[in-house]
Amino acid sequence: MTTPTNGFVLRVCRGPGCSHLSQDLREAAEQEIAARELGDVMAVLDDYCFGRCGLGPNVLVERWREGKRNERALIALMLGERHPDAYLLYGARPADVRRAVARHGDELRAARAREP
Ligand code: FES
Repeated sequence: MTTPTNGFVLRVCRGPGCSHLSQDLREAAEQEIAARELGDVMAVLDDYCFGRCGLGPNVLVERWREGKRNERALIALMLGERHPDAYLLYGARPADVRRAVARHGDELRAARAREP
């Protein structure tokens, strides 16, 4: 699975604090993306430890624009600040991942509909 040029990437933590549910989270995300036909704008990748192990299982949701992730958003996340282009789903369950895919999929569709 490749990262979308404009869309969202869900990074599922496979680290020791999260791995007990990471396969279920990944499958839930992939199934929801397929069901909503969002494969061209959303991707699921494995990652390893975001440093918030005690709050896991965690999934990093990041917005990609013009083929790049938003580095400022990631720095904000590390500093504990909020940014709409990168956030962690803490203590994620499959339903949380499905909701995130649905919400961002709807956002992307709405943005496309506004394009000239
Ligand atoms: S093991 Fe998942 S955040 Fe550290």
